[in-house]
Amino acid sequence: MTDAIRRHDPTVKGFASDNYAGVHPEILQALALANEGHQIAYGEDVYTQALQEVFRGHFGPAAQAWPVFNGTGANVVALRSMTAPWEAVVCAESAHIHTDEGGAPERSAGLKLLTVATPDGKLTPELVDTQAWGFGDEHRAQPKVVSITQATELGTLYTPDEVRAICEHAHQLGMLVHLDGARAANAAAALGVPLRAFTTDAGVDVLSFGGTKAGLMFGEAIVVLNPDAVRGLRYLRKSAMQLASKMRFVSVQFEALLAGDLWLRNARNANAMARRLADAVRGIPGVEVPRPVQANAVFAILPAEVTQRLQKRFRFYTWNEATGEVRWMTAFDTTEADVDVFAAAVAEEMRAQA
Ligand SMILES: Cc1ncc(COP(=O)(O)O)c(C=O)c1O
Repeated sequence: MTDAIRRHDPTVKGFASDNYAGVHPEILQALALANEGHQIAYGEDVYTQALQEVFRGHFGPAAQAWPVFNGTGANVVALRSMTAPWEAVVCAESAHIHTDEGGAPERSAGLKLLTVATPDGKLTPELVDTQAWGFGDEHRAQPKVVSITQATELGTLYTPDEVRAICEHAHQLGMLVHLDGARAANAAAALGVPLRAFTTDAGVDVLSFGGTKAGLMFGEAIVVLNPDAVRGLRYLRKSAMQLASKMRFVSVQFEALLAGDLWLRNARNANAMARRLADAVRGIPGVEVPRPVQANAVFAILPAEVTQRLQKRFRFYTWNEATGEVRWMTAFDTTEADVDVFAAAVAEEMRAQA
């Protein structure tokens, strides 16, 4: 028995972020399974060791998984391990590392980000070239890593061929490729390909693999696909405060997610609910869905008054105040009923506006 009190209404769901969701019951079961008794701390436990095989099964025999607490930590530690102090990272202007990590790459890793404006959150070899120049010029931070996000912050996807083209180009320039895969599971599910199709097989060197948005309580993993691309990860993870003492609880969650098909079931549901929501709101007069819905994000343009009224009823974020664009995210636990209730509320508020 616990003295804690349930302080929220578990039937209330929003569309603000896939991080608003709880923990998948199979993950909770796995946590309980790993509990009780003692295990070696800091990653020498049997769960973390077994996890290596699970990641190798998805990403190939060279893959090494380094569990961490969160996605910002995964990105910062990964990028730090791939760069020397004079080197820089090319990324989209919309990249999470640039827009939503509080400057952590700059502050805690001293990284120079060379950003590129993109129409859809995606880099191309040509767009990389707008920042990948000045090699050997001591006045310019030396471009070393191209960091791409899959699925992107704008809900779009790279095909495996598009990732391959970026990797080939970066490698020709002597650069490395990092993939922020906070939503890699959603991308694989949507593309109908294995996780390795747009990572290992496309030539990505290091991946930040997302667990939290896929149904974990917490935990992400840096997955090294090319061991020659990183230096000092073991030490950097600790000094960046991302070394979990009770690592077995991060690792067992990933085992539950990845050893079977839980990752795929969760991602498929989130993606399907985004499609359902997009289809429903596209039919509402006055609502525009300006971006392709390829994973679990739906962007819509609404009158500001409608957004304000809706936000009193459901949690979601305004993406762009100037254009009235909002972002709706679906999660592994979003149901058809959740979507239908929300879409009906959008229709009702739009009618009231008219
Ligand atoms: C693209 C992307 N990368 C990384 C993260 C992980 O960030 P956090 O540090 O909140 O776990 C997120 C979470 O929103 C994200 O959307």
